[in-house]
Amino acid sequence: MTAKIIDGKAIAEAVRQEAADETAALKKQFGTAPTLAAVLVGDNPASQTYVNSKGKACEAAGMGSVTHRLPATATQEEVEALVRALNADPAINGILVQLPLPKGLNEQAVLDLISLDKDVDGFHPMNIGQLVMKGRVPQFIPCTPAGCIELLVRSGIPIAGADAVVVGRSNIVGIPVAALLNNADATVTICHSRTRNLPDIVRRADIVVAAIGRAEFVRGDWIKPGAAVIDVGINRIEDPSKKSGFRLVGDVCFAEAVEVAGAITPVPGGVGPMTIAMLLKNTVRGYKLQHGIGA
Ligand code: GUN
Repeated sequence: MTAKIIDGKAIAEAVRQEAADETAALKKQFGTAPTLAAVLVGDNPASQTYVNSKGKACEAAGMGSVTHRLPATATQEEVEALVRALNADPAINGILVQLPLPKGLNEQAVLDLISLDKDVDGFHPMNIGQLVMKGRVPQFIPCTPAGCIELLVRSGIPIAGADAVVVGRSNIVGIPVAALLNNADATVTICHSRTRNLPDIVRRADIVVAAIGRAEFVRGDWIKPGAAVIDVGINRIEDPSKKSGFRLVGDVCFAEAVEVAGAITPVPGGVGPMTIAMLLKNTVRGYKLQHGIGA
C-alpha cells in the first residue's frame, strides 16, 4: 500500500484564503485590518527567513504587518519595553517574539509579558495551561500544533478514539499537540528520549506525530499499516547532488513510511506551510477579541 500524501501546501492555502476573506469582512466593518507585530532579536538566519515569510503572508492576506528588529546586543529591558509598547498599542492585534532569543536574554520573562489577548503564538503559560486543563479554553492555540490537527481534520482522519503517539515533548510542539489530540478524544502517549521500546509504542498508533528534531528518526517498520503520520521535523542533511549541498528531510524516513502508512505529510510541503496559515487565523482572532466580537 502507498500512503495518501497530505498536501499541506494546498490545505494551508485554503486556510490562508479563509483568513483573507475574514480580513476583508473586518476591514469593511471596522475600516482597519488585523495587524501582526513580529519581534526579531539578533541575526539568526533561519529566524530572519521565518519572520520575512510571516510578514509576506500577512500582506498577501490583506493584513497589516510590522517587524521590529533589535540587535543581538539588545538588553532584557529593551526587549521587554518593546513588548510592553506593543501590548499597549491598539493598532497591534497579535505579537510574535521569534524564538530562540539570543543567549543571555530571558525568553520566559519575555513570553510571560505578552498580553494574553495578543498572544498569537499561544506560548504564554496561561494559554498553555488552559490548553491542557479540562474544561478550560485558551485564548490562542500554538500555530504548529493547531496546524497538525487541521491537517488531520481536513484530510478526514478521525481523531476521537484513535491511539495517538507523539514523539517529542517540546513546549512549542510536542506538549501542545498532545493536549490538542487529548482534547479531541484521542488516547495519547507522549514519547521522548528516555522512552523504552519506542518502536513498539509507535507501532500501536493510529496517528503518529513526529516532533523530535532528528532527521529520519522514525522508521517505516515502526508504523502500523494504515496509520496517519504527521511529520513536524525540518532537518537539513548533506546532499552533494543538490546545488545548495543539502536537502530538507523530516523526523520520519518518508521513503519507508510512505509504503506502510495510510496517510503521510511530506517534508517540505506538509506541516511547514500550516504554521504561518494558523498564525494568520490567530491574528484575525486577536483582532476580533480586541473589537469585542468574540472569536
Ligand atoms: N521558533 C520556532 N518556531 C517558532 C514559532 O512557531 N514561533 C516563534 N515565535 N518562534 C519560533
